[in-house]
Amino acid sequence: MSIKIAQIGCGYWGINLFRVFSQVGQVSHLIELDSSLKEKVKKINPKTAFTDNWKEVVQSPEVDAVVIATPAGSHYQLAWEALNQGKHVLVEKPLAMTTEQASQLIQLAESKNRVLMVGHTFLYNRAVLILRDLVQSGEIGKVYYAYSQRLNLGRVRQDVNAMWNLAPHDVSIMVFVLGQEPKFVSATGQSYLQPGLHDVVFMTLGFENGVMAHIHVSWLDPNKIRQMTVVGDRKMVVYNDMIESKIAIYDNGIQRKDPHAPLEGFDNFGAWQLSLRPGDIALPKIDFKEPLQVEASHFLECIRRGQKPLTDGYNGLTVVKVLEAAQRSLEHGGGCEEIR
Ligand SMILES: NC(=O)c1ccc[n+]([C@@H]2O[C@H](COP(=O)([O-])OP(=O)(O)OC[C@H]3O[C@@H](n4cnc5c(N)ncnc54)[C@H](O)[C@@H]3O)[C@@H](O)[C@H]2O)c1
Repeated sequence: MSIKIAQIGCGYWGINLFRVFSQVGQVSHLIELDSSLKEKVKKINPKTAFTDNWKEVVQSPEVDAVVIATPAGSHYQLAWEALNQGKHVLVEKPLAMTTEQASQLIQLAESKNRVLMVGHTFLYNRAVLILRDLVQSGEIGKVYYAYSQRLNLGRVRQDVNAMWNLAPHDVSIMVFVLGQEPKFVSATGQSYLQPGLHDVVFMTLGFENGVMAHIHVSWLDPNKIRQMTVVGDRKMVVYNDMIESKIAIYDNGIQRKDPHAPLEGFDNFGAWQLSLRPGDIALPKIDFKEPLQVEASHFLECIRRGQKPLTDGYNGLTVVKVLEAAQRSLEHGGGCEEIR
């Protein structure tokens, strides 16, 4: 079955989506307000019609699916219109700017029986799948805590702060890897370059069973870093997306010298002594495929088979819920906010 795709937005990220969808599917229309991008689009796929009128294309019976790669503030309106016209929708992250909007999109997709998918690209990254398996198979033991850094200098946005721009990735990875949603969040940050738009944010997430996670995002940092560390009571894992050996498994840790000694009472000296357990570092071979291509193929496959995507509307809603609560915390001095 041939699926005709219309894509809205072809800026920094949209051009990648356009290239990939042109490889795995059929992009009949590209809607972009900036006409200077027409030549770039033509070079990638000369058969795609270029226009600036999204309403007309979204209403066209010739179009089966709409891919949305416009600024975050426009996701809700564009996705709503496309779903309402009976199209399947892949919308870039974040799914929407409020939980209310995200919930409305889910309801609409369900009532129209259409696929709604959100571009949480890292869940299609082989290294992240390996990290998730290491955590969920119990190989690293009981998870103590995790932290991530998504930092670089530049690509400063004027529509959303660094948290809404960068942290959707980290939140979606954390939830996927830990297999649970956070219960509370606190966030602090600062706006240095543009009033009211945070350039750097430090976010703490609290999960059940004492598991804690920290996310540091910034577009005002000397280094480009994409890294996540998960510390368990048996092993620790570092996922570094910037290098070829993306996953490093540290088979070491800290343990009590006498793990069987009772912890009560100070008379048992052995129970209170801690020792370093040295071990090997393993770098598993990763059969890496471009995550965006995996994501695009998955979207088309879900449409063909009538299946729910891995990153469906509920997955998008989870991330929006966390970010909305974190934004409240940012605006109220970093207080702890419950995530409902
Ligand atoms: N999944 C990822 O890894 C990833 C990475 C970067 C950005 N993104 C997301 O992709 C989206 C776009 O980000 P970007 O960096 O490409 O932004 P951008 O500003 O570079 O590009 C957005 C483009 O959309 C166009 N546009 C806006 N409104 C339009 C409309 N109504 N009709 C047609 N065109 C319209 C603009 O002209 C612009 O060219 C954002 O939601 C962002 O969060 C995702």
